[in-house]
Amino acid sequence: MLTLYFSGTGNSKYLAERFSEIMGGDCYSIEEEVDFENLITTASTIAFSYPIYGSCVPQILREFVTKNKNYLNEKKLIIFCTQAMFSGDGARVFIELLEGINFEVIYAEHFNMPNNIGNIPVLPIKNREQIKKAFKKVDKKLYKTCENIKNEVIKKRGFNAFSKGLGFYSQRKYFLKSEERKKKDVKISPDCIACSKCVEVCPMKNLQVIDKKIEQKGKCTLCYRCVNICPNKAITVLIHSKVKKQYKGVDGKLFENVK
Ligand SMILES: Cc1cc2nc3c(=O)[nH]c(=O)nc-3n(C[C@H](O)[C@H](O)[C@H](O)COP(=O)(O)O)c2cc1C
Repeated sequence: MLTLYFSGTGNSKYLAERFSEIMGGDCYSIEEEVDFENLITTASTIAFSYPIYGSCVPQILREFVTKNKNYLNEKKLIIFCTQAMFSGDGARVFIELLEGINFEVIYAEHFNMPNNIGNIPVLPIKNREQIKKAFKKVDKKLYKTCENIKNEVIKKRGFNAFSKGLGFYSQRKYFLKSEERKKKDVKISPDCIACSKCVEVCPMKNLQVIDKKIEQKGKCTLCYRCVNICPNKAITVLIHSKVKKQYKGVDGKLFENVK
């Protein structure tokens, strides 16, 4: 079993690593510099874990899958989407990237995990106790999921027409429309001290420091790492209202090692 993941702020990484620990095999972030062609072609079953963005697969993972699609031919796939609340068909939408190849989805599931967007009032960032509780629930669901997979139970969350319609009409339709514009729409407030932590963590290498100012290159994947790491809450993407609270991951230490 090979497990691959993209994770902006640690939730999908947590899930992928726990899953791989239980099921065995290797686990890699798509940001790592490894020989993915070799890893994918030698595995028979591949699990993917990723956060859902407006019922869409993150741009960075879409690019990865497009690049490596042919190696996924004839593979068995397990698809895990992590979400704060709702995606409709967040796991199913992944297979839209695989048109033209043969594959078999043996399991697809959605995992509710803490929200990582700290500037939408309707869904505030949870406190430590709530986050702990949420991850306990995830552990329980993941354990059950692994049992099912071991017992060859097939489940495809979100693969019916109703879920597809929900995902598309409630979110994807609008999210895809604004995505191109949002790629170039990182906003830096005057509170920025150009510490360059955001530059360090950006998975797209979208940010750089020029003349003591953070500049963007127009390829933001909306992962929210920069928003959540900024010591002055001076950077926003997607939504530009003031960041109230930042998400620091499962243990509250998400960015502690970033200099
Ligand atoms: C740009 C963006 C869009 C999101 N859209 C959704 C969504 O449509 N539905 C939902 O339930 N959660 C949504 N979320 C929340 C994340 O999917 C969720 O917190 C996820 O577990 C984060 O995973 P990560 O820590 O691996 O990045 C969104 C988060 C971001 C940053």
